[in-house]
Amino acid sequence: MNVGIDIAAMATGHYALDLRFLAVARSVDPRKYTTGLGQDFMSVASPQEDVVTMGVEAGLRALEHVSDPTTIRLVLFATESSVDQSKSAGIYIHHFLGLNPSCRVVELKQACYSATAALHIATAFVRQNPAAQALIIASDIARYGLNTSGEPTQGCGAVALVVSANPRVLVVETTTGVYTRHIMDFWRPNGQDAACVNGRYSALAYLEALSKTWADFQCNGGGSVGQIDFMCYHTPFTKMAEKAFARHTEIARSIQRGGQYLPAFLPSAVLYGRRLGNCYTASLYISLLSLLENTAQDLAGARVGLFSYGSGCVAEFFTGVLAPGYQNVLFAEAHTAAIAQRALLTVSEYEAFYTQSRDPVCVPEVRYYTGPLCFLGVKDHQRHYRLTLCNTESCTQVRLVS
Ligand code: COA
Repeated sequence: MNVGIDIAAMATGHYALDLRFLAVARSVDPRKYTTGLGQDFMSVASPQEDVVTMGVEAGLRALEHVSDPTTIRLVLFATESSVDQSKSAGIYIHHFLGLNPSCRVVELKQACYSATAALHIATAFVRQNPAAQALIIASDIARYGLNTSGEPTQGCGAVALVVSANPRVLVVETTTGVYTRHIMDFWRPNGQDAACVNGRYSALAYLEALSKTWADFQCNGGGSVGQIDFMCYHTPFTKMAEKAFARHTEIARSIQRGGQYLPAFLPSAVLYGRRLGNCYTASLYISLLSLLENTAQDLAGARVGLFSYGSGCVAEFFTGVLAPGYQNVLFAEAHTAAIAQRALLTVSEYEAFYTQSRDPVCVPEVRYYTGPLCFLGVKDHQRHYRLTLCNTESCTQVRLVS
């Protein structure tokens, strides 16, 4: 039975910062960000956006193509920007999407990797329950701190993946290569909302994990590199994905003799990433959407290689085959509009957003642009949200008043 991604949708924060302005403010040559890191903008979440609001927006979009949402019997929420130490953020998603109560909901954590764990758990679930579907929400806000070397690689976004039998987007193949090793390249201790990161070490660890997962994939009977048509990599910044492709090509050339066919890594696979920044758990799947929605050629039948990396670290290499007619269930126009319509912040507005509490005291009104769900704040240690299907008119304040 073919099982995999039936629907894929994304959402991002409703504000953005042009990294050329950040470079000027930080006295850095803008080409370091745009060429050296390969990033043009970062999405910024306002104080009224969080992983739940972005996840609900992506989820509502995905449900547009689900004929019977009551068949969703498993919701997996993948994040490393969790809003609670106990309650799964997936339960808010389940509530606001009005899903079937006969459903398991759980949150998964392992840095940027956990959406891939969710995907493999979901495909196993559907193989056991072919009439059921699973919903994966991967949602994150990447925060490294003002004036740090990680700052220009921040971003935010969410993806919603509906996993089913006979999928309309990507049939996920069962052979995978995995790798786990205890390292301290990136972590976020309790009580801290910005990550601790040994950035250059994390980039080296990422490349080492790519080699290890590729070797494990081969040991497990995975095909040769010549059987993969296109690659998508976890994209903390787009230059990292380019380096991964260079490393992958190097490994392939060292194993194979002669001029065997190599997969392509298309610029379209990082087009969204260049504009959104790092979306942690969602990044790999945003790269897949970017490839599918920004490549004019029909890729149906092509095999895509996917490399997932989560610092700490766990990594996985796997493949999928694109279904015929996948274009009919994409949301290319809506995604392009969401990216283009973000309100551009000045550096001082971005800094003011950044320094505000991520858990503000609950206010009754919607003050900033958000998607269909607005985070109102925290009261009695409980998070409060308001569903507001389009808030551009009700929003009283699009700019921060100092
Ligand atoms: N014009 C063009 N390129 C420039 C430049 C300029 N004026 N100045 C610097 N660069 C290039 C550098 O040569 C380097 O490219 P290279 O890696 O191909 O050599 C790149 O820009 C980054 O410069 P570097 O000095 O290495 O940046 P940094 O040390 O300040 O920060 C990270 C880079 C990735 C370490 C940092 O952004 C970070 O910690 N990010 C978060 C962690 C992360 O994303 N890890 C990835 C694996 S999960």
